[in-house]
Amino acid sequence: MDFSVTPLTPELGAEIRGLDLRKPLDDTTMARVRRIWLDHVIVLFPEQDIDDDQQIAFSRQIGALEMINMAALQVPGKPEVYRATNLDQDDNFMPIDHPVMQTNRDNQKWHTDSSFKHVPATASLLHARIVPEAGGETEFANLAAAYDALDDATKEQIDDLIVVHNFFWSRKGVDAIAFTEEEKAAIPPVRHPLARVHPETGRKVIYIGSHAEKIEGMGWEESRALIDRLNEHATQPRFTYRHNWCVGDMIWWDNRAALHRGLAYDATGQKRRLHRTTVAGTGPTL
Ligand SMILES: [Fe+2]
Repeated sequence: MDFSVTPLTPELGAEIRGLDLRKPLDDTTMARVRRIWLDHVIVLFPEQDIDDDQQIAFSRQIGALEMINMAALQVPGKPEVYRATNLDQDDNFMPIDHPVMQTNRDNQKWHTDSSFKHVPATASLLHARIVPEAGGETEFANLAAAYDALDDATKEQIDDLIVVHNFFWSRKGVDAIAFTEEEKAAIPPVRHPLARVHPETGRKVIYIGSHAEKIEGMGWEESRALIDRLNEHATQPRFTYRHNWCVGDMIWWDNRAALHRGLAYDATGQKRRLHRTTVAGTGPTL
């Protein structure tokens, strides 16, 4: 199948036009697209008029899918599909104090999906169904480019360190309102290499973001200072791309090589609904 590829920025992202994601891609095309994705970290497919089943089918061509762990966040009957939205199941606004609205605000912090899991996600795919008139963009940051740009002393400092990612560190607000003790116990803190080797490209990435709580073997203050410095470094404009969503846009990003965050918008006056599928990881990072 023939398609066009246009880089979005020098460091991050490629736009692919000419493919129809309603139908399965043949193996050769899929392999070419996957290579482009690995090289550019995120791939944008504009103007895709797909439904949930088609999104699930395309995502399964990439790998096995994660299931959504909170019923309030999924499309009814489809635990593979996460609704990133300020709307209830009838597309009416949710009250501002709803736990899901807190989750949305937390997603405005830089993070990589599921890094709080022992086996974190490989990829996420987000398809825009309803977009606000202003705001609600998604930003991405390239963690491999950010690693490469570190000075040698910092690379040496972080190369053998272990970082602890903890959902209830980054999502303190959700803690009290949305989870039972049993659900909390199911998401304990997990260990990852701070300089993670990407399992497909072999490049090193700074495996960081808001779920990163502390560094093993380091005092709290020192540990937080290093995490904050690395987060700041990795999210400089030169490593990032900001996407202003149009209905029909599909973005497929590599959670092993990118941070992302949603930007704020008028969540009580503007409707926004994007559907996400998440490709599960293939093994632990250590
Ligand atoms: Fe996310």
